[in-house]
Amino acid sequence: MVSRRGFLTGLALAPVVYAAGCSVRAGAPGPGTRPLPIPPLAVPAVGADGVRRFTLRAQPGSTEMVAGKQTPTWGYNGAVLGPTVRARRGEQVAFTVTNALPEPTSVHWHGMHVPARFDGGPHQMIAPGATWSPQWTVDQPAATLWYHPHPHGATEKHVQRGLSGFFLVDDEAADALDLPKDYGVDDIPLVVQDRRFTADGGIDESDTTDVGLLGDTIVTNGITDAHLAVTTERVRLRILNGSSGRLYRFAFGDHRDFALVGTDGGLLPKPVSLTSIQLSPGERAEIVVTLIPGENVSLRSLPITERAGIDRAAEFGFDDTFDILTVRAAATLRPSPALPAALVPLSPLVAPTATPTRSFDLQWFMINNQRMDMNRIDMTIPVDSTEVWTVRNKDNWPHNFHIHDVRFQIVAVDGNPPPPALSGWKDTVYTTPGVTYTLAMRFTDHTDATFPYMYHCHLLHHEDQGMMGQFLVLAPGQRPAPMVMDMSGMGHG
Ligand code: C2O
Ligand code: CU
Ligand code: CU
Repeated sequence: MVSRRGFLTGLALAPVVYAAGCSVRAGAPGPGTRPLPIPPLAVPAVGADGVRRFTLRAQPGSTEMVAGKQTPTWGYNGAVLGPTVRARRGEQVAFTVTNALPEPTSVHWHGMHVPARFDGGPHQMIAPGATWSPQWTVDQPAATLWYHPHPHGATEKHVQRGLSGFFLVDDEAADALDLPKDYGVDDIPLVVQDRRFTADGGIDESDTTDVGLLGDTIVTNGITDAHLAVTTERVRLRILNGSSGRLYRFAFGDHRDFALVGTDGGLLPKPVSLTSIQLSPGERAEIVVTLIPGENVSLRSLPITERAGIDRAAEFGFDDTFDILTVRAAATLRPSPALPAALVPLSPLVAPTATPTRSFDLQWFMINNQRMDMNRIDMTIPVDSTEVWTVRNKDNWPHNFHIHDVRFQIVAVDGNPPPPALSGWKDTVYTTPGVTYTLAMRFTDHTDATFPYMYHCHLLHHEDQGMMGQFLVLAPGQRPAPMVMDMSGMGHG
């Protein structure tokens, strides 16, 4: 008998047929009827130089997202989503990214502290048939990051068609903790997305609301009606809101407590007990849930309660309830260690009263009254500086705020300490209308006079419409160079 672990290892080594084994007998769809696909781990080639070389190929394919229907999709190394990349702090990673799609794309490492020219934003386009080769040293704490396309004006479409994958960073501090960490067994990546399908099974890209494409069907790790068979007392779910414009409030069907152990940028100082957690597009939460042998419990998304200042909440999906994943516990569960009382220490970057360096107003498709201009640098930031940014949503629409290159701490929410779920490292934060979020972050190394990093609303339709700006990190005395486009990915061969 092949163990689940053996099965996963086999998958990781074989060419990826992503949804293999996931089809169900026709006529039996419904919550929990299909096994959750686990993205295979990407297997790097490790040379004598120690560099871990990964290969990613963005390509079209077809996926049985809904049982019995084939949906044309895009994926990395397979028909949909992508392999989970894993690397340890201190390791050098290199990627060969090939674009086998019919149009230009890019690959951005969301949450990664990476040189600006390898950030994979709109300045690092990869032409059809071309290859892009970024390389850097991973230098940040253990965290659940992800990668996805970032072509200016087309990010929503590319992500919606299926392009995104997890990038897990490991380090010694996380290794030393008794958290569930057996990938695919008790440590499960979950990318949650909403889709609307056309009658023939295609992804409906036509219905655009003010928050972009809003689906009526949930796909978890690429399929509907997923269930996870669990064999351990505790399971860690690394949840990514990979949707375009939908907010989720994750909770279990019986409202049980779970422990929040990590957010976008890494582990929290200590587990926080919650009964629900809200994630806006791009945000991640690592939670640990405890199970009783033989039970079935569903992970659901409940209506969004944080809706002050939002007009037309129903139109933005705030009233919706969904089944996300059915968790099926085996009749006997392997005992899991108790959760550690302390995780990773966190020291505040600044005092809560620190004077803001910059402020950002979010309104309509603009940040500080401007839409994105690829040829305009919005700000330059001196390297080795700690900055304090205030962000305010002046709209009656939902927005959030994501910064490339850095992780940030939420110093204050309207002058008050942040709630526990926002007290760890973040790279994306939901912005309730009218509320001022004070963020602190430190800009270190990777100075570049030519290639900027982005900051933007991560509701992908808003980002595509230009709700984005650009900054350079500069060395002392360095001045911005004339803008150029990195053409290294644009040539063939
Ligand atoms: Cu997840 Cu600029 O993006
Ligand atoms: Cu990003
Ligand atoms: Cu927005």
